[in-house]
Amino acid sequence: MTTPSHVENYDPSNFWTTPARNFRTSARLHLQHFLFQNTIGFLIEPSIEEHLATLSQPLKIADLACGNGVWLTELHTHLGDKVSAQLDGFDINPVNFPAPAFLPASVKLQQRDVLAEPLSAEMIGTYDVVHIRAFVSIVPDGNVGPILAVASKLLKPGGFIQWDESRGDIWMVESPSPQVSTSACESIVQVLWSGQKARNISDKWVEGLDKLLDKSGFQDSRLLAREKRKQDYKGWTEDYLIVWEELASYFPTKSEAPDAPLSRESWLDMFAAAVRETEQGVAVHQGRVFVAVGQKPY
Ligand SMILES: C[S@@+](CC[C@H](N)C(=O)[O-])C[C@H]1O[C@@H](n2cnc3c(N)ncnc32)[C@H](O)[C@@H]1O
Repeated sequence: MTTPSHVENYDPSNFWTTPARNFRTSARLHLQHFLFQNTIGFLIEPSIEEHLATLSQPLKIADLACGNGVWLTELHTHLGDKVSAQLDGFDINPVNFPAPAFLPASVKLQQRDVLAEPLSAEMIGTYDVVHIRAFVSIVPDGNVGPILAVASKLLKPGGFIQWDESRGDIWMVESPSPQVSTSACESIVQVLWSGQKARNISDKWVEGLDKLLDKSGFQDSRLLAREKRKQDYKGWTEDYLIVWEELASYFPTKSEAPDAPLSRESWLDMFAAAVRETEQGVAVHQGRVFVAVGQKPY
């Protein structure tokens, strides 16, 4: 009997639009934002920021698949009163957008499938920077051509793309001391890996994102890699635990599929044991965060 598992049932085209992507997802994205920032240390990569200082204002910056818009609202604060900017966020699911009444006037969030073309004429060639972050789960086959084509069309000649990403197919489990077991966390990771292997999913492309930018016509592409800080391991661990808990719905219950190799009940037992390990200090993280930067030719 073929058994549905989390990976076989995961469909990136509808995962992000289901009612389950709600305030918990948004809270996790708020946490993840600050973890990314702690790791890379900038909102806009410094050489892009230097370039922006030479441009006439208002600047136009787009964030594709912006989630709850936290990168843009923090960017608004970072740019301060001296910089005039239009900060546009696009996301397929507006459920986590803050109310416009509570957004800075410079930030506008719109519902939009960023992979859908055509783009409206007033968007094309108008942005100084296009930002993408944490998009890896939407392109499990590594086919980044369509999103890069959209980014390139949105940019002015000479505009920059910045893509912040981590590998979604790596989990490092670390114990704080030899006395603390990691076996439940390791078991969960093994299940995730075997599911990915069965579907031939690899996020290795993230480590070659600069080459993929080059291939899509960007120039001077480069990739920065930053190790996660140890003091953030607990936050990253919490971020992954929230995802692991959500994955339960991808496993069939014992009554739905008595012969399934892994039932929802077994997953939840493993998850509870993993949580106990993390309460003893076990950390789960993905090693490094990557930032790819490239410029659209003039
Ligand atoms: C992992 S979250 C990252 C959110 C945000 N970039 C951040 O770093 O906080 C992925 C986001 O992509 C959005 N998304 C998925 N597919 C999309 C699409 N085709 N067009 C626009 N947004 C999409 C989801 O709704 C979700 O908000």
